[in-house]
Amino acid sequence: MNVRKAVPAGTATLAYRDKSYDLPVLAGTEGPNAIDIRKLYGEADVFTYDPGFTSTASCESDITFIDGERGILLYRGYSIDDLAQHSCFLEVCYLLLYGNLPDKRQMAVFHRSITHHTMVHEQLASFFHGFRRDAHPMAIMCGVVGALSAFYHDSTDINDPKQREIASHRLIAKIPTIAAMAYKYSMGQPFVYPLNNLGYTENFLRMTFAVPAEEYKVNPVLAKAMDTIFILHADHEQNASTSTVRLAGSSGANPFACIAAGIACLWGPAHGGANEAALKMLEEIGTVDRIPEYIKRAKDPNDNFRLMGFGHRVYKNYDPRAKAMQAQAHAVFDELGIHDEPLLKVALELERIALQDEYFISKKLYPNIDFYSGITLRALGFPTSMFTALFALARTVGWIAQWQEMIEDPDQKIGRPRQLYTGQKRRAYVPMEDR
Ligand code: SDX
Repeated sequence: MNVRKAVPAGTATLAYRDKSYDLPVLAGTEGPNAIDIRKLYGEADVFTYDPGFTSTASCESDITFIDGERGILLYRGYSIDDLAQHSCFLEVCYLLLYGNLPDKRQMAVFHRSITHHTMVHEQLASFFHGFRRDAHPMAIMCGVVGALSAFYHDSTDINDPKQREIASHRLIAKIPTIAAMAYKYSMGQPFVYPLNNLGYTENFLRMTFAVPAEEYKVNPVLAKAMDTIFILHADHEQNASTSTVRLAGSSGANPFACIAAGIACLWGPAHGGANEAALKMLEEIGTVDRIPEYIKRAKDPNDNFRLMGFGHRVYKNYDPRAKAMQAQAHAVFDELGIHDEPLLKVALELERIALQDEYFISKKLYPNIDFYSGITLRALGFPTSMFTALFALARTVGWIAQWQEMIEDPDQKIGRPRQLYTGQKRRAYVPMEDR
């Protein structure tokens, strides 16, 4: 069970309608303090107003810390740069789930459990055949992950810690299999079963790109790049899709349904769908000489065009994942002997121009994780439609770790925000003949 770690840090006084209210202030280990307004409505009959939750902490969490001003991202206290350089995705999964880096025995037990949950129920495969071949992989992921709750009844009791752990391992283990199946289905190729003697990411690449007609050998450099890309996407504090998972979970919904809700939210182009949108934008720009035209459009308040892969609610400095993503792009291009990828040139020049432009500087708009991921994933062989499915694959561990934390939170209750009502006052019904 999670214990409260926030500590009292004085009070904040609110003056409202000739009364003043002392509100407790809470301090965490890093980042801004929080004013505890839980009693405000009951005491002062007033709501706070924060659409988009720009100034609202929805929970207390030990999992991920972001310092948007300094461009810092920590998973359980470890910096994303250290983890990207020294760790592997499955070890990061253990860290996010259990709070500390595993020792050899813990890692072996975890690795064995995940490996032995990678297959999906054979009847789940027939689910795919209900989709059109050109269905977007995210539509398939939403549907199939939600359907897991119909197959794994023995791990849907959210009050049983053992069942929660099995469901968590099942989701982490099966999401690559489901993502690979979504790709194979769209290609009209047969599904490829997982192999237990392969690592997590190698297994995924083989299930995605192998065909029965010939041996498939995983390229270790590309597998390492893919694994690092998964690390970069694993968790990110209370982003839109994580908040969706928490809200769905707060009603007691089973973990498979909650993760399906997270996948649905991630799909949006303002969120995880931005990697697909960013690549399409780079393809539309096409050449370096057309960049000024698009910068102008991005700055035009009457044009709803935005530079996809730029800007972030929290990072008002460079997204540390974007730097690491750029490094993966170079590693993949070097391994594949791609030396003059035109879209990389467009991306680098677009970044250079934007970072010198007063509009982007004043609004603190920097490249985010989605800016370089698209060109890298395309070089790895994935179609654009698979980009957000890969984001969902990697984020599943973050969603499930946050879901677990929410369930174990002693303060946890069903999420139910209020509103500032601006509609009609009460009025009498008017019969049709009098309207
Ligand atoms: C992810 O939350 C997370 O942690 C998400 C994520 C994760 O790991 O889970 O990091 C993953 O979603 C990354 C973001 C991917 N989305 C995009 O790249 C889409 C393009 N970016 C924008 O849509 C936007 O920057 C958001 C959605 C990311 C953030 O939007 P905010 O915080 O609500 O900021 P805003 O829309 O209020 O923008 C502030 C200003 C606005 O101008 P003004 O109204 O002040 O005049 O900056 C402008 C915006 O018009 N602006 C942009 C811009 N992003 C913001 N102008 C041009 N191009 C952009 N990309």
